[in-house]
Amino acid sequence: MSLIEWIELPNLGDHRGSLVVAEANRNIPFSIQRLYYIFGTQPSVPRGFHAHKELQQIAFGIQGSCKMLMDNGREKQEVLIGQSNRGLLIPPMVWHEMHDFSEDCILLVLASNYYDENDYIRNYDQFLKEVNQSVKHT
Ligand code: TYD
Repeated sequence: MSLIEWIELPNLGDHRGSLVVAEANRNIPFSIQRLYYIFGTQPSVPRGFHAHKELQQIAFGIQGSCKMLMDNGREKQEVLIGQSNRGLLIPPMVWHEMHDFSEDCILLVLASNYYDENDYIRNYDQFLKEVNQSVKHT
């Protein structure tokens, strides 16, 4: 699987406005257990700086934009999230950082499981260690 995968949702909008639909296990490739949204951000205040052991997430810039740095321990790529019906898939074991939020940014995140601090890897060296260990075992 490539590091950057976008999930496109249908926009059923008409002259009254836009309407975008996400359905678990249909156009979202997992069962959604949680959603959260981030707003009131500032361009100079980055977020994220972690990876998840098992959690899958999809991030939509439903208003404004931000940059997302994705890093699987072998490859890094930065993309712009800023299209309300195109979400970035954040798979397990991908270190991710959000930068350069626009002031109007609203980031909507769909997640495959409940919040669990034990699923986070918040230390980059630890992340690299765990990635390299899993490569050796496959
Ligand atoms: P964190 O995941 O560190 O935010 P970000 O990746 O955007 O920088 O979460 C910030 C705080 O909120 C942290 O104390 C954990 C808490 N939190 C929850 O309690 N539930 C949640 O679903 C999320 C995403 C965070």
